[in-house]
Amino acid sequence: MKIDNTLAAVVTGGASGLGRASAKALADAGVKVAIFDISEEAGETFAAEIGGVFCKVNILDEESVEAGFARARATHGQERVVVHCAVVAGGGKTVSFDKTTGGFKRMATEQIAKTAEGVFTASYRVAAIAALGMATAEPLNADGERGCIVFTSSAASQDGQIGQVAYGGGKGAVNAMVLPMARDLMDLGIRVNAILPGTFATPPMLRVKEMNEAVYEGLGRAVPFPKRLGNPDEFASFVLELVRNTYFNGQCIRLDGGIRMPPK
Ligand SMILES: NC(=O)c1ccc[n+]([C@@H]2O[C@H](COP(=O)([O-])OP(=O)(O)OC[C@H]3O[C@@H](n4cnc5c(N)ncnc54)[C@H](O)[C@@H]3O)[C@@H](O)[C@H]2O)c1
Repeated sequence: MKIDNTLAAVVTGGASGLGRASAKALADAGVKVAIFDISEEAGETFAAEIGGVFCKVNILDEESVEAGFARARATHGQERVVVHCAVVAGGGKTVSFDKTTGGFKRMATEQIAKTAEGVFTASYRVAAIAALGMATAEPLNADGERGCIVFTSSAASQDGQIGQVAYGGGKGAVNAMVLPMARDLMDLGIRVNAILPGTFATPPMLRVKEMNEAVYEGLGRAVPFPKRLGNPDEFASFVLELVRNTYFNGQCIRLDGGIRMPPK
């Protein structure tokens, strides 16, 4: 897909971190970008900075996501690119020692359900609403390409650490959705891929740095090469390549400096 100012894109979680870097890279390439985020102030300010539109969207809420797409389309036309970065996730060990009772406790089933909703179900919701709009848009090129969906999964989908049953499981479900969704949408010319980031220097990771610099430094040292956390711009650069390269489809691909996460 040719990336230029004729394209419109939606980036969820675009007010921060990997989504923000992706939105900036797309906007720098001329794309009209709609930022979907629950964080209003940061989203409004950033959307104004990149000449895009901000839509206050809660990815957990069907009506809110539908309304976001309606607003984005009314402003920029049908989006051809969706980069889904927003996430709502929880953590916890399956069975852990409970200091207060002196016995063991298990993670509540609700924690799994909540994370499945915020990771897997929300990814489906965003992608399916986008694909429905793309389905009736004119093809963009001789291949008949109509759109491109990029999910953000995680290295934790393959090597989840202790306490990541919910998150790793949810992201694993996203990976498992990629190929069947690419097949569902193949006759419409809509591609579906997922990026599995390792550890990237985004606000959640920078909070780790604030709390414990040594832990943060250790995260960087654990990466085979280069020995540091990923830069959000490196993620964004990969997003652009996935959008640009029409032959990239049905794929889950790690971007992680070669790291394989240890148990903890
Ligand atoms: N940073 C990493 O090291 C890393 C590693 C692997 C995977 N990931 C994945 O990358 C994605 C982005 O992570 P990040 O590190 O950039 O995080 P981030 O916290 O910087 O950004 C996430 C954004 O999502 C928004 N958001 C949260 N709940 C929302 C909701 N209900 N509706 C709409 N927006 C909501 C937040 O306001 C925020 O702007 C996530 O899917 C995360 O699981 C990140």
